[in-house]
Amino acid sequence: MSYISFEDVTKTYHVGEVDIHALSGVSFSVEKGEFVIVAGASGAGKSTILNILGGMDTATSGKITVDGRQINSLNERELTDYRRFDIGFVFQFYNLVQNLTALENVELAAEICHDPLDCSLVLDQVGLKDRKNNFPSQLSGGEQQRVAIARALAKNPKLLLCDEPTGALDYVTGKQILKLLQDTSRSMGMTVVIITHNLALCPMGDKVLRVKSGKIISEEKNPHPADVDEIEW
Ligand SMILES: Nc1ncnc2c1ncn2[C@@H]1O[C@H](COP(=O)(O)OP(=O)(O)OP(=O)(O)O)[C@@H](O)[C@H]1O
Ligand SMILES: [Mg+2]
Repeated sequence: MSYISFEDVTKTYHVGEVDIHALSGVSFSVEKGEFVIVAGASGAGKSTILNILGGMDTATSGKITVDGRQINSLNERELTDYRRFDIGFVFQFYNLVQNLTALENVELAAEICHDPLDCSLVLDQVGLKDRKNNFPSQLSGGEQQRVAIARALAKNPKLLLCDEPTGALDYVTGKQILKLLQDTSRSMGMTVVIITHNLALCPMGDKVLRVKSGKIISEEKNPHPADVDEIEW
């Protein structure tokens, strides 16, 4: 059995009188430790997939399994625990607490977990050894995203989910962040799922899911994933 599986997952949003079919029959699987790229145009359903996988949204129908556990049948309390203990989330706009230092931001997230990593060490690993006592406003965008990644990793999650993690960054900084995420997946054996609308990034993935109009139009395993340094776009 796969580490993650989506089986015929649908999601319909009701807005007033209108039904919006964000996902219509999404199925795919991911193995433990895979670096997964989810690519597709705006409105395709990428964030909906990630939010359902991360327990921030619920499916209308279908079956979702993560590490042997059926996520779609969890109650509210169980979902809260799932988000808290099993999922690290990284967003486009970092979402750091502005009046806490880098280290304090990471410690805050680690505090609510069973088995967190050493926050200071994780900040070393993401390249912020000398910036731990800086506030977000004193850090560049790329550095703030490193704090956000450290914050997600310090929880020692089963899955690291990233929704357009380089969307607010320039080309070079974005590449550095992608390299950090790819290296982290490889060195920690961490299952990492990254959303992008940039198809040029597909060669990076151990697995690539292409999403279009609420459906998976291709699911490919990549036997020789490229390093991000080898990709230009
Ligand atoms: N909370 C919501 N209420 C109503 N409709 C929604 C909601 N969230 C998403 N949708 C709709 O579902 C569809 C898929 O949205 P989703 O956010 O998953 O797309 P996306 O692929 O992440 O796009 P983008 O690249 O622009 O972030 C879109 O038509 C969107 O308008
Ligand atoms: Mg999105």
